[in-house]
Amino acid sequence: MDTARIEEVVGDFVHLKKRGTSLIGNCPFHGEKTPSFHVSVTKGIYKCFGCGKGGDSVRFIMDHEKYNYPEALKFLANKYNIEVEETELTPQDTEAQNAKESLYIVSQFAAAFFVKQLWETDEGRGIGLSYFKERGFREDILKKFEVGYSPDVWDAMTQNAINSGHKLEFLEQTGLSIKNDNGKIYDRFRGRVMFPIHNFTGRVIGFGGRTLKTDKNVPKYVNSPESEIYHKSNVLYGLFHAKKAIRDLDNCYLAEGYADVLSVHQAGIENVVASSGTSLTVEQIKLIGRFTQNVTILFDGDAAGIKASLRGLDMILEEGLNVKIVSFPDGHDPDSYMHHVGAGAFKTYLENNRKDFILYKANVLLKDAGDDPIKRAGIIRDIVESIAKIPDQIKASVFIRECSSLLEIEEKILLSELNKMRSAKSKKSFESNQRASTSNNNPYLSGSTDPLGPPDDLWDDNAGLAEQNAVNEDEPQEQEILRLMLAYGNIMVSWDQNENLYIGSFILQNLSDVVFKRSLHDKIIKHYWDKAEKGYLPTEKDFIQNPDREISELAITLSTSKYQLSENWLKKHLIYVKDETMDLKKTILGGIYHLKKNKIELIKKGILSELKSEKDPTAQEDLMVRYSNIKRVEKIIADFLGINILE
Ligand code: UTP
Ligand code: MN
Repeated sequence: MDTARIEEVVGDFVHLKKRGTSLIGNCPFHGEKTPSFHVSVTKGIYKCFGCGKGGDSVRFIMDHEKYNYPEALKFLANKYNIEVEETELTPQDTEAQNAKESLYIVSQFAAAFFVKQLWETDEGRGIGLSYFKERGFREDILKKFEVGYSPDVWDAMTQNAINSGHKLEFLEQTGLSIKNDNGKIYDRFRGRVMFPIHNFTGRVIGFGGRTLKTDKNVPKYVNSPESEIYHKSNVLYGLFHAKKAIRDLDNCYLAEGYADVLSVHQAGIENVVASSGTSLTVEQIKLIGRFTQNVTILFDGDAAGIKASLRGLDMILEEGLNVKIVSFPDGHDPDSYMHHVGAGAFKTYLENNRKDFILYKANVLLKDAGDDPIKRAGIIRDIVESIAKIPDQIKASVFIRECSSLLEIEEKILLSELNKMRSAKSKKSFESNQRASTSNNNPYLSGSTDPLGPPDDLWDDNAGLAEQNAVNEDEPQEQEILRLMLAYGNIMVSWDQNENLYIGSFILQNLSDVVFKRSLHDKIIKHYWDKAEKGYLPTEKDFIQNPDREISELAITLSTSKYQLSENWLKKHLIYVKDETMDLKKTILGGIYHLKKNKIELIKKGILSELKSEKDPTAQEDLMVRYSNIKRVEKIIADFLGINILE
């Protein structure tokens, strides 16, 4: 954490300028022209005052690169050449981990071997490279995607790997080498141009090898099998090279093949990936969803193929993504069309021919059905079924309207069809909701009439209401005390002549009778308690670096709230507010008392309500004593806060 300096980590992605004590730049998380993205070097955090995103170095990498927590740590470790020791692993885990690492290593070795073959051998240049050149691929694109060539020899790669010290075991596990029944070892890929497949952090995990023969009996592509590091359904070809552009442009083009990805890139469009061989999976869609909510499918031209794949696309709608379609004329695929019309025209074509998936589907099916009324009815059901998959109701209703005019059917009819499908789909959750809402039913709302009017405990209902309101009232006060705790917890203050206590401990002691209303606040306090009991008072930084996103986000908000005030407000109004650290004791007590003031209100109400129903005179007396005690405490607090306010 100390090494991964925020200005360096963020600086790799955002151009930062110095402004006062902090660095500022244009926020990478939302489009903006005037910078509101602040980096505090001393606190080790960033905060955008435009969109609210904030965090430390790890959070930045998580948000920017869409990594999970361990992935982000590994990314940073790699940037700073820090070895990550996975101390939690059992010996078996470590072995598995090492084995997995070995698979990455042999895959990377093979990729480098194939690249070398393509560029530096006669066979590679004469057969592989000239093939790519003939198809019109530029050298920079071939190099970027690390394409290669596997020589037409039984075991060239395997022998080379073994001679370089790699173990056959791992070569076999990646499927790069195969042992036949007679124990003979040979290469899976021979005499093919090679497309390495990267995971989205850029490591080679598998290969697709294309034959250069026109022989129909030879499979066009041979692919790596599933392995410990290659799970086809979780991988999108090209994602590593595309992810930045996907995020920047907020759209992902989805093609079918390796060649398509390369060609679209060559046309200057980098936000493109391919599902490569497998039909699209939910995992792949979720992977795209980490970067953008907008997918544009690039369809090969042939009509039968399009019709067949339409159904599969409902799955994308179901994930809540917006789906557009671009199709290509006369049997072209993106690759052939790009080379046919050239990069510039291709780009324009993509921009001008995006159609919304639902409308596109409706059009394709309508054309197919002609005037046949039965077929047309089937289409309507089919289309509404797709619309029913869209989780966003507003979006869905827009499509209903558009399809109503396209299909020449009343919106009402489509809507009732939609509702039928929806309710069938959500019947289960609907039923359980029903149960829940009848169980806590209110006698006044459910119509059970009470001739005697409201019952005596109406007062309690009001107390309940007061409590609900108090949740909101308490929120800023709870936050304020947490802020003080995080900012000053480790400072020792003398509270009485002979009592020196850390501010953190002092607050904890004084809050032992207070339950925080917001569960997140309570979580932070509990965390603080846990650490304090172990003899360590956590700092602002500890909370900012907490892997729990909610906690770290609140810690950032707390640590920047003062700062925001001084930046925007104080400067503008040339106001110098008395520094709260001048009299920390008073600041802290103020925070605690503010919080307690609200609790006292509640306690008073509670006692009054008890008094109302209490019939026993001695118990009544007890309650009255409690009430006057609490009034006294209230007075002390009010006096203190009053003094505070007057100053
Ligand atoms: P394509 O036949 O469209 O391949 O199959 P392509 O990448 O465009 O190759 P070119 O243009 O003919 O050179 C689309 C994808 O389906 C998978 C591959 O991932 C391919 O990129 N595929 C295809 C296979 O896995 N095996 C095959 O035999 C064919
Ligand atoms: Mn192709």
